[in-house]
Amino acid sequence: MGIRFGYFVLQLIFSCFFTNSSAIDTIKANESLANSEALISNGNRFKLSFFSPPNSSRRYLGIMYNLPVMTVVWVANRNKPLNDSSATFQISSDGNLVILDGRKEIVWSTNISSSVANSSAVLLDTGNLVLQDNSNGAYVWESFQHASDSWLEKMKIGTYLRNNTKNMLTSWTSPDDPSPGSFTFTIEPSGIPQLFVWKNGKPYIRSGPFTRRGYAYGTFVGGDSPGSSDITFTLTNSSVLQYFF
Ligand SMILES: *[C@@H]1O[C@H](CO)[C@@H](O)[C@H](O)[C@H]1NC(C)=O
Ligand SMILES: *[C@@H]1O[C@H](CO)[C@@H](O)[C@H](O)[C@H]1NC(C)=O
Repeated sequence: MGIRFGYFVLQLIFSCFFTNSSAIDTIKANESLANSEALISNGNRFKLSFFSPPNSSRRYLGIMYNLPVMTVVWVANRNKPLNDSSATFQISSDGNLVILDGRKEIVWSTNISSSVANSSAVLLDTGNLVLQDNSNGAYVWESFQHASDSWLEKMKIGTYLRNNTKNMLTSWTSPDDPSPGSFTFTIEPSGIPQLFVWKNGKPYIRSGPFTRRGYAYGTFVGGDSPGSSDITFTLTNSSVLQYFF
């Protein structure tokens, strides 16, 4: 993996960048985030806000590093861009996180089926946006389980046959357009787990199989049941920001 996949590692090195402030990291019921506002994670590493990609006037809600250079790692409404600045991000009456356009129509939703009476959304300092049931603190939805094109430390890329779900990376169409592009990245559990990059559904690059579950190159290959595999990584030096995309 270190060799074949090395060329899509972006390494950002910034030291002493994240300064202290008393920004807000949570949206509660009855609160909403307007187009010009942002959530900032509690250690100031990540920001959630509406943005426009370079050379585009379309608006998207995304999570990015809290840095002057725009480094978007997750996009909510990839398929449904907004054409103006009138949208809001809020918790709906059934407990879902939603983006509403200027006409108050739902453009994007976390789509959880069981309604939660009292929930709040928190942007964690790992870059994970979580929707939390306030009655028991449980996470009912996490952006880390709905990856865009970026794989952050502690996030699991996986294939889970027990409920037929995957958490995979999907490329942007172009640097100006976050709509899903041709390439996806998964770990495939059948037999011995292997990493795959797919192009339009056909294998494009694959790693050699992992001969066993465990650590290699700072990654951990695991899985919670037969037929499931997932992979995470941890960084050893917290002053170096590193992620895959
Ligand atoms: C929601 O939960 C929070 C935290 O437990 C609590 O402080 C708040 O009063 C609750 N709100 C409602 C409307 O029940
Ligand atoms: C962590 O990375 C920074 C920036 O590259 C470097 O200056 C520092 O020595 C590294 N620390 C360790 C413990 O490797």
